[in-house]
Formats: sequence, C-alpha cells, structure tokens
Amino acid sequence: MITLQINGSVLPVEVSPGTTLLEVLRANGFFGVKNGGCAKGECGACAVLLDGRPVNSCLISAAQAEGHPIQTIEVVGEHPDQGWRKTEGLDPIQQAFVESGAIQCGYCTPAQVLAARSLLSREPNPSEDQVREALSGVLCRCTGYLKPVQAVLRAAAVLRGEAIEPIDGAIPAPPEWLGSPPAGGDVAGEPKSDVQPQLVTRTNVMPRITVTPQSKLMNRVGRPEQKVDAVKLVQGKPAYTADIEMRGMLVARVLFSPVAHARIKRIDVSKARALEGVAAVLTYQDIPRVIYSTAGQSDPIPGPLDMFSLDHKVRYVGDRVAFVAAETEAIAEQALKLIEVDYEELPALFDSQQAMQPGAPIVHDEPEYINFADSDPTRNLAAEIRIDIGDVEKGFAEADLIFEADYEVPKVQQAHIEPHVVVTYWDEDDRLVIRTSTQVPFHVRRILAPVLGLPVKRIRVIKPRIGGGFGGKQEVMIEDVAAHLTIATRRPVRYEYNREEEFVAARSRHPMKIHMKTGVKRDGTLTANEMYCVSDTGAYGCHALTVTGNTGHKAMALYVGDEAYRQSPNIRFYADIVYTNLPPAGAFRGYGVPQGYWAVERHMEKIARELGLDPLLFRLKNALRAGELHPFSMAWSEGREPRPETVHTVGLEECVSQGKAAIGWDQKFANPEWHQIPGKPHLRKGIGVAMVMQGTAIPYLDMGGASIKMNDDGSFNLLVGATDLGTGSDTVLGQMAAEILGVPLEDMIVYSSDPDFTHFDKGAYASSTTYISGAAVARAAQLVAERIRVRAVRILHERTGAEPLQPEQIILEDRKAIAPDGSFVTLVEIGHDSLHHNDQEQIMAVASYKSPVSPPPFAAQFAEVTVDVETGQVTVDQLVMAVDSGVIVNPITASGQIEGGMTQALGYAVCEEMRYDDKGRARERDLVDYHIFRADEMPELQTLFIETYEPSHPFGVKAVAEIPMDGVAPAVGNAILDACGAQVDIIPTTPERVWRALKKGTEWQARSM
Ligand code: FES
Ligand code: FES
Repeated sequence: MITLQINGSVLPVEVSPGTTLLEVLRANGFFGVKNGGCAKGECGACAVLLDGRPVNSCLISAAQAEGHPIQTIEVVGEHPDQGWRKTEGLDPIQQAFVESGAIQCGYCTPAQVLAARSLLSREPNPSEDQVREALSGVLCRCTGYLKPVQAVLRAAAVLRGEAIEPIDGAIPAPPEWLGSPPAGGDVAGEPKSDVQPQLVTRTNVMPRITVTPQSKLMNRVGRPEQKVDAVKLVQGKPAYTADIEMRGMLVARVLFSPVAHARIKRIDVSKARALEGVAAVLTYQDIPRVIYSTAGQSDPIPGPLDMFSLDHKVRYVGDRVAFVAAETEAIAEQALKLIEVDYEELPALFDSQQAMQPGAPIVHDEPEYINFADSDPTRNLAAEIRIDIGDVEKGFAEADLIFEADYEVPKVQQAHIEPHVVVTYWDEDDRLVIRTSTQVPFHVRRILAPVLGLPVKRIRVIKPRIGGGFGGKQEVMIEDVAAHLTIATRRPVRYEYNREEEFVAARSRHPMKIHMKTGVKRDGTLTANEMYCVSDTGAYGCHALTVTGNTGHKAMALYVGDEAYRQSPNIRFYADIVYTNLPPAGAFRGYGVPQGYWAVERHMEKIARELGLDPLLFRLKNALRAGELHPFSMAWSEGREPRPETVHTVGLEECVSQGKAAIGWDQKFANPEWHQIPGKPHLRKGIGVAMVMQGTAIPYLDMGGASIKMNDDGSFNLLVGATDLGTGSDTVLGQMAAEILGVPLEDMIVYSSDPDFTHFDKGAYASSTTYISGAAVARAAQLVAERIRVRAVRILHERTGAEPLQPEQIILEDRKAIAPDGSFVTLVEIGHDSLHHNDQEQIMAVASYKSPVSPPPFAAQFAEVTVDVETGQVTVDQLVMAVDSGVIVNPITASGQIEGGMTQALGYAVCEEMRYDDKGRARERDLVDYHIFRADEMPELQTLFIETYEPSHPFGVKAVAEIPMDGVAPAVGNAILDACGAQVDIIPTTPERVWRALKKGTEWQARSM
C-alpha cells in the first residue's frame, strides 16, 4: 500500500512493484492522463506534473511517485458555467489552446497543457524556441505544432497581463498559481484600469485567405469558430474509447505469429486456459471460419475477401494466432507465453517484384478466397489495373523526347497517438456493444455481423472521440478480437494495441515501385504520360485496388498536355498490386496519391530542367484547367461504373503566383548567390516546387445524412452521420447549419456518427465530410428554415394584421426571423409556438446527399532546404502551401489540416520508413526508431488559401484534409536537386541516400526520338 498526493488530495492505493503511475492514475479515474501504448516513454501523452515538472507516467512506477505532489489535467480549469455554481473557467493556457485551434484530436492536448504550465511557471516570458523545447516531449501527429506553440505564447502574454490581438472571444484573467499580472497589465476584453493596454502580442494562427465574393456574404461560414469539442478535450474529459470503467471488464491480448509464412501444425492452449485469471483462450478451432475484408468501405467492398478472424495459416510476422481474455494485462501476457504452437514454415515473399515471378510462393491458397474484379491469388495479385486514355503509343511517337525513370516510395505508419482500442460488452437488450475508435462506425457493424454470427441490428457501435486516425482507423481491424472474447465470456472486454503492435500488426501506407515514361515536345508540351506501378499490399488486400487506383486517378490526371493534347490527352496507368508476407498496407491520408506525386513531380522537374524550361510555367502549361473533363472520369471509379466529370474550378495559377511570392521564389530560384551560405562551403540552399490535385469524395458512392431538430429555446440538435476524427468536421458542419438558420454556432448541439441515432454516413475518409455531409446538413437546414419562415409569417400576420408575407421574404439572422420592414419573431418564440402553443409540430428535417462529381482541390507546394553536401543531411527550412480548397468554412480548422498534413508529409519526405529484416520482422517498433517530427524540429510552415467557389456545393467547398500529404516530398526532392544536383528518387531522403546520389552524379538523361 502506498499513498499518492494527486491534485491536492491523498489517495491510498494497493500496488505491486511493477505497477506504473499511468496504470494507477487511469485505474482511479484520471482519464485525462492518456495512454499512447509506449514502452520507452516516447509519445508523452501520459505526462503528468510531478513536483511541478512533466514526467511520463508510463515510465515510472507508482511507488516512485510517493511523496511527490502529482498534478493531472483534472486539476486545471473547468467549464465556466456549472449551473448555479459559477467557476473561474478554463485556465488561460487551456483557453488559448481552444481559441488558437491548437486542438485537433485532442489526445496530446492534456499533456501539452501541463508541459506549458510547467514552463510558464518557471519562465513567464518564453521565446518560441523555449516553448518548442517544452512541448518537444509530447508528440502530436495532428497539428504540426504551429498552433499549440502559438497558443502557449498567447497564454504567456495573457498571464503577463499583456493585451493580445483577439482571435475569438475574451481571455480570462490569470489564476493565482502564476501570481498577479504586472501593474497596469489588464486583460483583453476586461480592462481593469482607465488606461487601455497597448497591443503588445500578436499570435499567428490564421492563414492568409484570398476570399471569393460569395464568402463575404456569409456570417458563420468563413469564421474561425472554436471547435465544438475543444472545451471538453482541453480538460481531458473521458471522451475516448478507453476512458470507461466497467465492472468485470477483461483485458484482451493477442498471440502474434513470430514467422512470416506458415501453417499451424499444432496449437495447444490447455496450459493457458488453466492459468488462474484467464477467462478465455480462442484459436481458429473455436470460432466460425468466415472470410471477410477488414477494409472499412461501402458495400460491396471493392477488394478481395481474404481474411479470417483466426486461421490455421499465418501470412506475416504479426498475424494473429490466438486471442486471450484475462482479469489483468499481466495475466493475459503470461497466458500468451503458455500457448504452444508448432509451425510448418513455408517459403516467404518479402519483395513485391519477386511476388509476380512464376513459381513464387502463394500467399493465399485458401479455397474460401473471394475475388474482386481482377484479383488472382494464384498469381499473388490482390488487384490489377489497366487504364488507357487516348492513344499513348501515338503520343510517344509524336514526342521529340522520351523521359523514363524509376521511383520508389516506402511503407510508412499512420502513427496516431491514440492506439487502436475497442471495448465490447452485451447490453441489457442482448445487443453486442462495440465501443471503438473508428473512422467508419457504420461499416463496422455491417462488416462484423457475419463474422460474429449476429444480425446487424443486434450490434450497437459507439464511436467516442478519436485520438487520431489518418486512415489507420478506416479498418475494422481489432473490433472482432474483443467481440469474439465477449461472446465467449459474456463479459466486457477491452483490447488496445500497444505501440509495438501498431508497428507489427496494424496497417500502413502501400510502398510502391513506380516507372514513369513521358513524351514531350521541345517546347514543353506533353504528348503522352505513362505510369506503371507495383504496389505491395502485404499479406491481405485491404484497400489494395482503391489506394493504388487513386495513385493514377489523381496523380496522373493533373497533366494532360497542351493544345491538341489538352483536348485529347494520352495517359496510361497500369498497376499490379501484389501480396507479400509483410504486414498489410491499408488506408493512409492521401490514399495512394502521395506515392504517385513523388514520381510525377520529381519527373516533371527533371523534364523542365532538361529542356531548360521554367519549372512553374512548364507545369502550368500542361496542367488541367477549369471547364475540362477530368481525364480519368471516363476510365475508372474505384471499382464502379465511371461517368464523365467536368472540373469547374481550378485555382492553380493563383496558388503558384501567391505561393512563389510568399516563399520568395523569384529572388531565390535562379540566384546562385542565394544558394551559397557565406563561410559554410559544405552547405547549399535549394528551393523546390510541386503541384498537386486531390479529389473530394467518391462520386455516386459516398453518401452522408443529417437531421436537424428545433428546440423550444431556439437551439437546434444537429445529428450527422459523419465522423469527426479530430479534423473539426462537427464544427464546420455546425457552422453551415448555423449559417442557414441565422444562429451562433453555440446554438447548434452537434452529435455525430452513432449508427443507432444518427443517419448513415460512409465514414471519415476520401476528403468527403465537409463536401458530402455538409451538403446533407445544408439541405436539412434549408428544410427547417422553411418551416421556421412559414410559422414566422403567421405569427407576424397575427400580431400586426398586415397582409401575410411570402416565407421567402423572411430572413433568418441573429436568432430571429426578420421581415423586410424590420419586424421580427425570435427563434425562442417560434420554438415555443411550434412545440407548446399553436398547431403544434416538431420542426425538424432529415436529408442525405451523394454527389455526381468529385471536384478536385489543387495546390502549389513550395519547399526550401539546406543540404550538407559532405554528409547528405537535409534540413527543411520552410514549407509554403498555397491551396485551392474552394470556400474555407473555418480558417483555423482548415489551416490546422494543412499544417498537420504537411508535417506528416515532411516525415514521409525525409525520415519515416518501415523496414524489415530477412525474416520479415519489423525493424522499427516504436516512436524512437520510427521518428516523427517533434515541436522543436519543425520548419516554418505557411498556409495560403486561394478560394474558388465550387458550384456543385451549397457553400462552394472542396476538400482540404488530404491534399497537404501530396506535394511536400517531391517539393523537398526538387529542392535537394536545386541545392546540390543530387537526383534522389527514393524517399525518405535520408542522408545516406542523398550522399550516394551526390557521389553518383546526374546519370539521368532523356532519349531523343
Ligand atoms: S510516453 Fe507514456 S504512453 Fe507514450
Ligand atoms: S491533436 Fe495532437 S495528437 Fe491529435
């Protein structure tokens, strides 16, 4: 028994020697302390303050903490309004995080707030570098750190008593724990003396936006509204899947295969089952053999069915062998060690090209395998794509020069800070509840129903807040483990990956080998463009066809050629997506497109330089333009029937113009002086660009639903099927409804993605939520607005006796229905009238939307680097992204997407890579060896939005979430070339690769026709 001092209270706890402080805190309800599943304390999500200093609670034993005051986020601030009990509200750091848009998924936020609190208690006036260093122990995969750092600087200014430029809302006074503000230091919005404070601190979290005329007419759309979930997340409220206590809950663990390819000859679980505290051990012999796909996609899943919950064959190191449920994690781990397995090892495949050779080992030989389209397990083919647009051979024949080269992209991890986690239990209606951190709650129950032997209606899926997903949670990957164990034991079960399991058993980005062949006239006109791609899907074919299809569909669609070629482009995209005995790939933000743009944009750069053309003008000359047909729209559509699609808005030229001004392209690109650093001859500066396009949803397939209900206080419940995985979609959907209904966002109570209570939505992927679900919300809001106007007309007529107005004459604004003469009825009055007084009705509406088009967003991505030509070390100094994402609904959340996406893409460019030894065992198993960027390592980030008004959407929006993944790597690669002439065609651009490329020189040449 030890005694801990937690948040000023004393807590006696029973612990064993190895019990960590994290375990004790979470077991006692301090759910603000998050679990990142680390073994080496690498993520920092579990940080608490011990003696006022941040400490990772997973790294120290509870006993070590005895005698040291512990602070968790639960002691920091609270919602200001607690009914009749008023509070001091959020702490200024929390408030600054909320206002600055520093919170996306929020999983790292409590630890960041505590780290900032510790810093500011020691250093009230920190520099940006000091803030970055203080936050460097807490990894964030969502934000790119720009806004958290600015939030801390903002909070510091508030705490010093300085006035600050408002973003939105007033800043509360500093609390006592940091002392009083200096004399005369009043707080913005609340001056305490006659002397108005000077504006001394400006924090910079807003992007620069060039707005469309239509945006200027809107009130709520286009504003930097605070995220609707920010206040709860900044307090570390128990909002995530694992933040739940259930009586009798068991812990699940999985026995993973230690070999890459084998049949299970014998498995004996008797000793494990006999261990005290073990509730169940399951093998393939215990559960039904149902073939399915874990890909969280709409029906029919556009890929092969090739997976069983448990099988008698294993196909990669990390494949499942047995499931265990036990009273504690330690017992479950012990039980795993007692399971005896004899494997008959089979030859294994670790190379995608080898997988296609005749006589190669076959990964899938099970008779239950179900093909989709051209999948062929006898050739290790999970999918095959052959797309010919125009006449490619004729285009090559007409070219003056043919350029060919090979490129390669690695397998990389989503690395969301919240691991995959699920809790399952039977409810009182004998429905199986699956509480899971998923991007696709509606697909979870549909996909798992046959696997579990339950009808869909007897599965209840609950999706709490998600601690990051990025496609990794578009997979129904661990829910079946806990569900089988709950069915077996009748008890609640929690199953959570640790960080190592994320690396060995979860999904990743498809690695690809890409060959480019391009025909071009000497004036720079592209005559034909061809890509052949070998994509490695690993042991299972989840997302195999659609990810790789998008590699061509998006990356090869941007350049169509000029003049006659523009009218009839010649494009070929062929791909073989093959099985190997490596962990399966899957969905990852960008969904195949970043792979394609690495090849396309490196290739275009080489062509422009070889021809002596300006790389910007060369690209713009050949790029798709507004009014043209998407070249792939008649050729391919994710396994569905393709239909023609015209691209209505292309802001690329303006993106180039503003982006190059922001980074100083004209002063740097062709300026030899700029490329040198005086006194440092081993360093070279370089600047590079990439142009990219993405898509917005999948046409004729993605569907979203929404409903809006009016309450008697004039507020509204907005129910949406869409899943907010930290992106802020609940907020932007609320803004759209608030715009139409004439209310502030706070009057919209947003509830999202619960298959029991909200309307269907295909899930959070394909950059579709703002566009598809937003259109459904707008439709529902218009229907509700119509009912409000009709009722307002009647009330106004009854009040004044004047001629009844037409409903269209009524404007909804400022919580009122306003007539042309200025008379009005408040929404409170209308709410009461409709529910209590006259001709009662529930004012509500439901709507859904699917789109016939997928309007592409466009962007120009710029990068500035410094290369050490002696070591090959690349330092990225600056990233500027100018984006045409249509109308920006919320500049703070949208720029957060760009900053976070660019940061993930930066890792893809320079350091992230999953590698395997000759037995197929993962080399990178934690966030130490697999490096993601920390706050103190970031380059300068700048986001520019160039609005266009997409006519197919009620608010003119296009997508923003995925496009920042696409251009950073090639822009960095092109900047390296600009700096030192090194042709690096494989990412990440590690020092070794750059150094080797420097030694090799430029061997790449065009072939004259
Ligand atoms: S550092 Fe403790 S969970 Fe990651
Ligand atoms: S907001 Fe930092 S990990 Fe998601």
